[in-house]
Amino acid sequence: MLVDFFPQLTPDYFPIVEYVLGRDIHELLSDDTLHICKLDLDKIFTLISKAKAGTPIPYLTNHAYFYKDTFQVDERVLIPRPETEMLVEKTLHFIWQKKLSNLSICDMCCGCGCIGISISKYVSCPHSLILSDISPEALQLCTTNVQNLLGESDFIHILPSNLFKNFPDELVRGINVLVSNPPYIPHPRISKLDSSVKDYEPHLALDGGLNGYEMVLDLLREAKKHMADESLIIIEIGEDQGMILRKEAKSIYPNKAVKVEKDLFGCDRYLIIEPN
Ligand SMILES: C[S@@+](CC[C@H](N)C(=O)[O-])C[C@H]1O[C@@H](n2cnc3c(N)ncnc32)[C@H](O)[C@@H]1O
Repeated sequence: MLVDFFPQLTPDYFPIVEYVLGRDIHELLSDDTLHICKLDLDKIFTLISKAKAGTPIPYLTNHAYFYKDTFQVDERVLIPRPETEMLVEKTLHFIWQKKLSNLSICDMCCGCGCIGISISKYVSCPHSLILSDISPEALQLCTTNVQNLLGESDFIHILPSNLFKNFPDELVRGINVLVSNPPYIPHPRISKLDSSVKDYEPHLALDGGLNGYEMVLDLLREAKKHMADESLIIIEIGEDQGMILRKEAKSIYPNKAVKVEKDLFGCDRYLIIEPN
């Protein structure tokens, strides 16, 4: 039995055991004749001690669950967060409700690609997908996730770019859905974050500048030139940024409906700009 090998094992470490042994934890827990070789035992103990010392488990197992799929992750990208799954749900809901088709979808600041890939996988209408990030390292991992979850396709563009600045002309016009989880933590708050975040996750993915929302503002201003009519912009924001960003977004998009919606914890989290 698994407990004979690991009497102290808590559920937090189940993903490590599953990863090393390549089997589902429920299957392992009910296997009366389980044998684990010394090499695997050593590997499990090493990874558990790294996790205890603070390394986030998804960086040890190189995968994270997001929405309905498993994404490859490592230190090149942020570990996808549960609140970001609602960006996917809200975007899919908008597309289904408006019965949109032939869409150009852009996931700006895509990291491992979890948002854009999930939307593309579960939207049923024809569409093109732009996945963009300033970090070429993040885009390497994004490319692997695209290959694993969407396969090769010429409707997908993976672009290294500082927001829209390096987009080729043919891609920047007529975007129907812009979705983004940009860095939004105020710079002075980074050093106060939990060690598992500030010592392991890329600061490029966290640091939103002095106020935290500068990049959101830049994105809103730049996007204005590139969005099609009847389009959607949906951006994840910091919980204390709702009021200011609603006001700023309304001044940039006076003819659109601007709202801020809450996450499951009741915090302002999603800035949404959609047709009136
Ligand atoms: C909060 S992470 C989000 C990653 C992924 N979308 C997710 O939700 O897990 C922000 C991402 O923005 C990227 N980024 C930072 N500055 C950028 C910029 N100026 N232009 C484009 N991407 C940027 C970072 O490299 C990082 O991958």
